[in-house]
Amino acid sequence: MTETADPTVTTVTTDAADGDGAAQVEFTLNGAPVLASTEHPHLLAALRDEFDLTSPKDGCSPSGQCGCCTVLIDGKARVSCQTSMDKAAGSDIVTLEGVDQAEVDRMADAFAACGALQCGFCTPGIVMRTKALIDKNGSSLTREQASRHLGAHLCRCTGYIKVLDAVEALAHDEVPVVVQPGGVGSRGIKYEGRELSVGTRDFIDDMAVPGMLHGALHLSDHARADIVSIDTTAARALSGVVDVFTAADIPAARRVGLIHKDWPIMIPEGGRTSYLGDVLAVVVAKTRELARTAAALIDVNYEVHTPMVDPVRVIESDEPAVWELDGNILSTSTYSRGDVDAALAESRFTVEETFQTQRIEHAFLEPESTLAVPSGDGDERTLYVYSGGQGIWDDRNDIAAMLGVDQQRITTELVSNGGAFGGKEDMSNQAH
Ligand code: FES
Repeated sequence: MTETADPTVTTVTTDAADGDGAAQVEFTLNGAPVLASTEHPHLLAALRDEFDLTSPKDGCSPSGQCGCCTVLIDGKARVSCQTSMDKAAGSDIVTLEGVDQAEVDRMADAFAACGALQCGFCTPGIVMRTKALIDKNGSSLTREQASRHLGAHLCRCTGYIKVLDAVEALAHDEVPVVVQPGGVGSRGIKYEGRELSVGTRDFIDDMAVPGMLHGALHLSDHARADIVSIDTTAARALSGVVDVFTAADIPAARRVGLIHKDWPIMIPEGGRTSYLGDVLAVVVAKTRELARTAAALIDVNYEVHTPMVDPVRVIESDEPAVWELDGNILSTSTYSRGDVDAALAESRFTVEETFQTQRIEHAFLEPESTLAVPSGDGDERTLYVYSGGQGIWDDRNDIAAMLGVDQQRITTELVSNGGAFGGKEDMSNQAH
């Protein structure tokens, strides 16, 4: 192990210690000195992937927008996905896993009793900031002060009023009594509310199983393009890559969908993309970073077309907007009550108009992820799928149809997700 010349920088290079000579940085993590690889894109990745600390949630890394990955760095609340490994060097870093258990319990009680969470994905980050604020200001922390600092956190389900109630309760040592629900019709704290508040109830991306591999998707570079060729050679050649799949590997149904089977799982060579989210290949590798690096190495040759972006023009067009679909109208709804024609005929004035609603993005904070655990062999092989979706039977049926296997061989368990609002009803990456 060799220390750098500058004593203020604690980057070290290991040689015999771990055999690969990879550079590491040293910092204090939850009270103990640790060495972490500098290969991580940011501190959050090191905390989650190297040290298995999952209370900081990954909502938007590396953009630092949502605040879910907030930890204490030298006593200050900081988003860890915006902290480089160089910046982390020499720091004192604390996650909720390193906070005294009695204090964690108190914070869990306050957030649960005040109803300061719903999905809970944003809450551990907010709890960490609350701790930093109370450590600094004690009982003099005001609601207004806390409210200003909460600007660093996005919450899509709860809002901030009840969160501020919890922060005030903690600052003034007036944590309400936690009431466990006593059955239908009784008041009580949210199911798993305490665990969610302090990040001990796993979301799918927090889960791990022995021998787990990681998948990364290669998405289309163009919203509308013919796929001339997909070259996976460079991705396959990367050490640590286990396999690469394209649409040619899908054994049965190539489309999934809740109402209509209209969503291509992957676009093959010879197919056409319909939006930037179309998947062209799946890389499976030993680590998340390797999978992502390899996915970026896939070389796709496109013939690019102008995207179809205006729904009214698309409805009038004979050209399918979505690859292999027959027509561009999803559904037609008509509604009438009584004798409409007679009522219109008798009306002094009639108005005919086209109405249009706004677009709404669900903006859930938890990104989609899926964990699939195979077991057994041959015809006995089964798949247990942890899904963050909104309909386990639909997920099961679509996965079975894609694999061309009996539905009984697929079991799907819903892991309560970090927000969905309807946006996770159709499958996203479960089939992949
Ligand atoms: Fe804040 Fe769901 S509780 S995002």
